[in-house]
Amino acid sequence: MPAEAKPRLLHLPLPVRPLLLLIIPFISFLLLYTYSSPPLATNAVAAAAVTVPLAPSPPSPHIRMRRAGFRSYEDYLRHQLNKTLDPRLRKVWATRDWHRKVDAFARAFAGLRDDGLLSNSSRALCVGARLGQEVAALRLVGVRDAVGIDLAPAPPLVVKGDFHEQPFSNDTFDLEFSNVFDHALYPDRFVAEIERTLRPGGVAVLHVAVHRRGDKYSANDLLDVQGLVGLFCQSEVVRISKVDAFGLDTEVILRKKRSP
Ligand SMILES: *[C@@H]1O[C@H](CO)[C@@H](O)[C@H](O)[C@H]1NC(C)=O
Ligand SMILES: *[C@@H]1O[C@H](CO)[C@@H](O)[C@H](O)[C@H]1NC(C)=O
Ligand SMILES: *[C@@H]1O[C@H](CO)[C@@H](O)[C@H](O)[C@H]1NC(C)=O
Repeated sequence: MPAEAKPRLLHLPLPVRPLLLLIIPFISFLLLYTYSSPPLATNAVAAAAVTVPLAPSPPSPHIRMRRAGFRSYEDYLRHQLNKTLDPRLRKVWATRDWHRKVDAFARAFAGLRDDGLLSNSSRALCVGARLGQEVAALRLVGVRDAVGIDLAPAPPLVVKGDFHEQPFSNDTFDLEFSNVFDHALYPDRFVAEIERTLRPGGVAVLHVAVHRRGDKYSANDLLDVQGLVGLFCQSEVVRISKVDAFGLDTEVILRKKRSP
């Protein structure tokens, strides 16, 4: 019996051997490809970050662009990052500011939920969220699928992303919140990206300062709320109201139309 079994054992793997010769290089290639793709992807993202053209938005009588004299788009990004990455400011945002802001945002989001503009199952994005106080507030009130984007990531609440070129597919979010419109170098593009990534029926909530100058990192001053509302081509105004939100005085809520 063993004499019979032995040749069988030797013969069985034979047809498998040429297969193995093919499979091993294939698996090695797969592994190599898998491990080499993250850096490739990162390079693609880095390259994508500077593909935003340096073409001014069409002039609006309601938006005054600051003449900051950026030599390039990267120059503008560096200027913005200067504030976002300022260690002194980041410490204040993470400590003294944190609970005060999370609580105020949570009250605002609970109000939106009471008005039927947000629910626990909403997919929410906070645009220009810095450390993510507004994202923390959304999660606190029960909106689990909430994330922020900013030029510098702040894990786990905020991922890296440029609001002029949001890293998301069309029709992704039920709600987008932002209070950084004044930082937009291209206000029309800022709005177009929000409309692109909102799903039809999705809601945009913006806190802005009207008639009030921002700081030296602001790229534009909004002189009239129509300057902002007029940039939304695919949405209808839900309401515009006065608020007192950390130096911002106006809340604009729009809903992306269900059919274009
Ligand atoms: C960034 O900040 C540093 C020091 O605060 C300053 O020297 C530099 O000019 C700033 N860069 C930009 C682009 O504003
Ligand atoms: C939404 O989530 C909050 C916080 O977890 C919870 O208190 C509330 O009951 C939830 N609402 C609904 C309608 O499920
Ligand atoms: C996404 O939306 C943009 C702007 O509305 C549009 O130009 C583009 O074709 C859309 N992309 C896809 C994949 O549908």
